[in-house]
Amino acid sequence: MQKSIALTSAEKYIKNKLDERTSAGTYRTLKPENNLIDFCSNDYLGFARSTELKNNISTEIQNHPYALNGATGSRLLSGNVTYAEELEQEIAAHHQYEAGLLFNSGYDANLGLLSSLAQRGDTIILDELIHASVIDGARLSYANRYSFRHNDINSLETKLKLSKGNCYVVIESIYSMNGDTPPLLEILNLTEKYGAHLIVDEAHAVGLYPAGLVNEMGLQNRVFALIVTFGKALGCHGAIVLGSNLLREYLINFARSFIYTTASSFHQLASIKMAYKLLRNETADIINLKNNINLFKRQLRPHENFPLLDSDSAIQCILLKSNDKARKAANILQNAGLDVRAILSPTVAAGTERIRICLHAFNTTDDLTLLIATINQFINVI
Ligand SMILES: Cc1ncc(COP(=O)(O)O)c(C=O)c1O
Repeated sequence: MQKSIALTSAEKYIKNKLDERTSAGTYRTLKPENNLIDFCSNDYLGFARSTELKNNISTEIQNHPYALNGATGSRLLSGNVTYAEELEQEIAAHHQYEAGLLFNSGYDANLGLLSSLAQRGDTIILDELIHASVIDGARLSYANRYSFRHNDINSLETKLKLSKGNCYVVIESIYSMNGDTPPLLEILNLTEKYGAHLIVDEAHAVGLYPAGLVNEMGLQNRVFALIVTFGKALGCHGAIVLGSNLLREYLINFARSFIYTTASSFHQLASIKMAYKLLRNETADIINLKNNINLFKRQLRPHENFPLLDSDSAIQCILLKSNDKARKAANILQNAGLDVRAILSPTVAAGTERIRICLHAFNTTDDLTLLIATINQFINVI
């Protein structure tokens, strides 16, 4: 007979929280990889699956036989290498910034930047749809925090009027859950009017634009700092904060997610360097991606109850407005061989549950035709 084991109070708490998730239909599980057509990953240009990139990384590693497997320590102790510092300069030059500091991930970059920069008495103002890593960074600071309505200039101005001390406004250039772009120039003009500093997370824009949207619009001299992540269109891992030399020195001294962690491995650095090299020579994949975005938007039949969110990026979302319908739609697409995922509340606000379709340079016309036909069919009956 099996003996029943009583749960400790901590285990009871854990179980209750998981049970709550199960009853709300929001229990998260890890799924193994699949062979469906990729309309889900952030590998917009196909760099993560590029054999050319894989071979270039191998060659780069072979060309540096003395490079270590692991970094052996924090950048401030044993973990710094000239290769990383040169890479930072190279990436900063690509985006036309004075300097850059590498972080192990975009999450770490936002955490380190926001938590160290703003002090008690300062103000951080965030778009309400800003990525969780920015929110977490802001929470770790002692600054006053406000959020403004998504992409809403008037709402931002209301919050700017309340700001005290040094003020930092943080936006994304392409929003990860909506795929839309903010009125960047208007936001910048407004932040400048109030003497605030604009920080732009370019995670989903680099790739569609070779050096990001801020650079595309020629605004790099006016935007205080950029966050560029390498796990999306660059197909590898890590991130950089771009800004002035002064900002870089400050982050080296105060950003805890930079200081108290083992530095990136040489493999990671070589991957980033080779991914940028590929990006610099890249035109065909960017054109393919743009063509696929245009094709999808042209051919999808709009449905008044289930609108397509306004987006010119690789991220296209159809609002299903309930967890149930979003899950059902994703199941239909997956059964048709298409890897499309539902984005449920509470990840997005209740009533805005959706399917999120990520388009790629490598998706073929046949892939897109199947995707569009499947959506056009089920949307009338769901
Ligand atoms: C807008 C944005 N910023 C930051 C991150 C975090 O980047 P990373 O995946 O490199 O930690 C993500 C990734 O989900 C993101 O979408």
